[in-house]
Amino acid sequence: MPEAILLHRERGLLTLRLNRPDKKNALTRAMYSQLAEALKQANHDPEINAVLITGSAECFTAGNDIADFIQQPPSDLDSPVFHFMLELLECRKPVIAAVAGAAVGIGTTMLLHCDLVYVARDARLRMPFVNLGLCPEFGSSLILPRLLGQAKASELLLLGEGFTGEQAAQWGIATEALGSGEAALARAREMALRFDELPAEAVRISKQLMRAPDRELIRKVIEEEGALFTQRLRSPEALAALTGFIKRH
Ligand code: COA
Repeated sequence: MPEAILLHRERGLLTLRLNRPDKKNALTRAMYSQLAEALKQANHDPEINAVLITGSAECFTAGNDIADFIQQPPSDLDSPVFHFMLELLECRKPVIAAVAGAAVGIGTTMLLHCDLVYVARDARLRMPFVNLGLCPEFGSSLILPRLLGQAKASELLLLGEGFTGEQAAQWGIATEALGSGEAALARAREMALRFDELPAEAVRISKQLMRAPDRELIRKVIEEEGALFTQRLRSPEALAALTGFIKRH
């Protein structure tokens, strides 16, 4: 079986490519663990100046693997998904995302913690947590209302409405929207390699300064959301929605 996470090093850039095309790059516990480990190593490797997270030119990720949600749901902050997201939050190096096709659930949430986000104009982003009987995760209940205002954030988080890459760029969720998946991936790589030309320590200090004011608050919200999310995963509402998805496929 091919590796579900491909690691590629190009000068000072480490690329983490989601590679599970038959399941739309849905993220399993093993994939979160690999991502967490790679981010941790990049964070401590003086040769790495930036990390790029991407899927293919057709699909970023369909979010958490739904079978995993049923069979091995995350139970606490020691679960692989929390390891991954906390490494992302703690990463001192710039993290860039390149998004094409579907970016569902955590596929959208993780973008809120990346430094630069390049999307295809027709990428399809969505956070259908409520629709699945769940609730927002990893700081999105704090970050999205601040970014978009309560009314727009409610449309995305309470109704679970989808939106395009173009809208993501208009609303400040993404840095730039490009004409195709290939163009988004190429721009993300080009911009990520720029960090090789910049003074690394100045970049790190600047990122730290931008993140510092909200750091503790975001951690606290993530813990609150995480406790509710893990409870919700065992709720009749969520089990009905998740098993419904499995039965339809
Ligand atoms: N977990 C596990 N498997 C998933 C998955 C997920 N989150 N998303 C897609 N897959 C699988 C499907 O079961 C299907 O597998 P199969 O061919 O063995 O039946 C395969 O990926 C292709 O999915 P399909 O729905 O046919 O592709 P599509 O192009 O029509 O739609 C999506 C793509 C992403 C819009 C759709 O798959 C989807 O909505 N997925 C669920 C997203 C979700 O709710 N994620 C959790 C958020 S918390």
